[in-house]
Amino acid sequence: MMKRVVYLCLVCSVLLACSPDELSVCSPDGNTCVTFSLNDDGAPRYAVSKNGKAVLISSPMGLKTERMDLTRDFTIMNSTRATHDETWETVWGEERTIRDQHEELTVMLRHTSGYKLHIVFRVFDDGIAFRYSSPDRSEMTIVDEATSYCFAEEPHVWSIPWRTEYYEGLWTKQLLSQIDTVCSPVTIEMADGSYAFLHEAALTDYPAQNLFADGSTLRTYLTPWKDEEAKDMEAKVYVRGRLNTPWRLLVLTPTLPDLVASRIMLNLNEPCAIEDTEWIRPMKFIGIWWGMHIKTMTWEAGPKHGATTANMERYLRFANKHGFDAVLAEGWNLGWEDWKSFDFTTPYPDWDMDHLSRFADSIGVAIVGHNETGGNAASYEQDLDSIYRYHAKHGIHVIKTGYVAPIIRTMDGLQWNKGQSGVRHYRKVIETAAKYHIMIDNHEPVMPTGLSRTYPNLVSQEGVRGQEWNAWSTDGGSPCEHVTVLPYTRIMAGPVDYTPGVFHFENPIIPTTRVHSTLMNQLGLFVCFYSPLQMACDLPEHYMEHPDAFRFIEHVPCDWERSILVDGTIGDFCIFARQGRGTDDWYVGGITDDEAREAVVPLGMLDSDKTYRVTLYEDAPNADWFAHPYAHNIKEMTVTAADTLHVRMAPGGGFAAEINPVQ
Ligand code: NOJ
Ligand code: CA
Repeated sequence: MMKRVVYLCLVCSVLLACSPDELSVCSPDGNTCVTFSLNDDGAPRYAVSKNGKAVLISSPMGLKTERMDLTRDFTIMNSTRATHDETWETVWGEERTIRDQHEELTVMLRHTSGYKLHIVFRVFDDGIAFRYSSPDRSEMTIVDEATSYCFAEEPHVWSIPWRTEYYEGLWTKQLLSQIDTVCSPVTIEMADGSYAFLHEAALTDYPAQNLFADGSTLRTYLTPWKDEEAKDMEAKVYVRGRLNTPWRLLVLTPTLPDLVASRIMLNLNEPCAIEDTEWIRPMKFIGIWWGMHIKTMTWEAGPKHGATTANMERYLRFANKHGFDAVLAEGWNLGWEDWKSFDFTTPYPDWDMDHLSRFADSIGVAIVGHNETGGNAASYEQDLDSIYRYHAKHGIHVIKTGYVAPIIRTMDGLQWNKGQSGVRHYRKVIETAAKYHIMIDNHEPVMPTGLSRTYPNLVSQEGVRGQEWNAWSTDGGSPCEHVTVLPYTRIMAGPVDYTPGVFHFENPIIPTTRVHSTLMNQLGLFVCFYSPLQMACDLPEHYMEHPDAFRFIEHVPCDWERSILVDGTIGDFCIFARQGRGTDDWYVGGITDDEAREAVVPLGMLDSDKTYRVTLYEDAPNADWFAHPYAHNIKEMTVTAADTLHVRMAPGGGFAAEINPVQ
C-alpha cells in the first residue's frame, strides 16, 4: 500500500514535469483551493477559490532582481505535496493550543537563466499562503516583487497609507480601486459579505510589504532599503545565500469571528526557538508614563522629573497594593535633553537604580525598563550586550524599546524602520534579549508578522495610534470609531501595546485634546485589545478617583485559555469574551463608536454544569463620552450557560464583565 502511494506520487511528478498544465491544491476541508499555472510566457500565475467561487483570478507572481526577471521564462521541473496536522501549545496567547492543519504544494521552477525558484503553497480551511524560496545560493539584489492579488469582485479595504509614521494612523475603508499605496496588513470586506485579511508571516530578513491598487488588483510594493533622502529607492532586498521570503498570507472566512480566530499567521512562523521559556511571562503593569504625555511630568531631570527614586517607590508600592506585576519607568536614564545621545546604563542622579531594584524585588514587583533610542539603531545594536547585562543585573527582565527618530520614518537617519535593515535590527534585538532572559515590548516597530511564535520574548509591540495620541494630538484625540477598527485590523497582526485605562479625561495642560471614551469603554479595551504585556496607563491618583471601576483592571488577566469574538462590525463595535489561562473565570469586554448600542452576549461558552457570579461594569443610562464620561453602574448577578447578557453601551461607551464560577 505504502509503495503504491509513493509510486503514484512519482507518476504525478513526472507528468507535471512534462506538462504545462495547472497544479491545484485544496484545504483539508476541500473548500479553499489554489491553482498554479505558467502562462505562454512561462510567467507564474495563481488563482484562489472558496466554495467553488473565484476569490482571486489569475494573479501574477515572481521577483525582479537587478540582473534577472524572475516573473517569466520559467518551466515547471517538479512538484511535491505534503499533508500537515499538528497541535502546538502557546507560551502565551489568545488560546492555549493552536491547530496547524494544511495541505502543501511546492512547485519547482527553472528559469531560462538557470536559477531555480520554488514556490511553496499552504492551504488551510481558513486561507492560503505562499512563499518564494530557492535551493541555489546566490548574491542578488531584489528590486521588485510581482506578487499580486486580482480580486474577482472589487471589495472594500481597511488600510493606513504606507508612509504612516510608525503605523500610527487612523484606518479608513475604501473601495479597493480607490486606495493609494498602503501598509500591510489590510482587512477586506468582500463583495459577497465574507471577510479577508491580507498580510505576511515570518518577516525575518526582508522588507515589510506594502500594497497598492491597480483596478481591483492589489500589487506589492516592497519597502525600499533607504529613504528618499538617501536618493536610492531601487534596492529592496539584499539576498546573500538561499532565498526564503516571508509568507504571503490571505485569510478568507465567512464571518468576522472566524477571521479574528484565524491562526494561520502564527502557524506559518517557525516553532519556538527558545528552549527554556519559564522566564517568559505575561504581565500587567503601571508606569511612570502618562504624566509625561499630559505634560505634568518630564522625561528629563528637572523640577517635574517623573522617574525619580521617590516617585518610583510610590508607584511600586501602589502596584504591590493593587496586584500589578510591574512598573515601567521612562526617563530614568541620561539623554532626554536632546533625544539623541541616550545612555542606557547611566541613571539621572535622582534615580537610585541599586536601591530601586532591591526595593522592587523585596516587595515582589518587577521593573519594566525603557530604552528609547531616538532611532539610533546602529549604536544601540553595538551596545546591546552590555545594556542587557546591566538590566538583567538589576533584575529587569522586560524592556520597552523605542525608535522615535529625528528624521521621521527612518533609522539612523537613512533607513526605513520597516525596510530590510530595520527588520534585521529588530530581530537582532529580540535574539540578543533572549540570551539575557529579557522580554521586549517594541515601540515604533515593524508591523508584527507572528515572529513571537519563534521568539516568545517578543511579547508586545506598538505600531498603532495608541492612547498617547489622546494626550497631545493636535487633532483633539482619536475619534470614538478608532478603537472599534483596531481589533479587526492592526491587532490581527499581533499583540498591541495600546495602553488602555485612562480614568481622568480632563487635560488641563492641553485642554483641546482628550480621550473620546467613557470610563466603561476604557475597561472594555482590556478584553478587546489583546496584549500579554498590558499597561494600565493612568496615574495612581486618577485610579483612586474611581476605585470601584478600577477593581476590574485589578482583576482582568492578560493571558488566555480561549478567546471568542462574540459580535462586532469593523468601525462600529466589538465584543470579546476570553477565559483566563488556567482558570474557569471569563471576562467579557465591549466597546462601541459614537453610537449607543445594545450588546447581546449569549453565555453558551460557560460550563453548562456550573453557576457563575457576574460582576457587570456598565455605562449609566445618562453616560456619554462627551458630557458624562464617568457615569457608570456596577451590578452583580448569577447566571448559567443558558443565559444571555444584555448591556447598553453609551455613545463612545462600552462595558466589562467578570464571570466567576460560584464555589
Ligand atoms: C513613543 C512611545 O510610543 C511612548 O510610549 C513613549 O513614551 C515615547 N515614545 C518616549 O519614548
Ligand atoms: Ca509611539
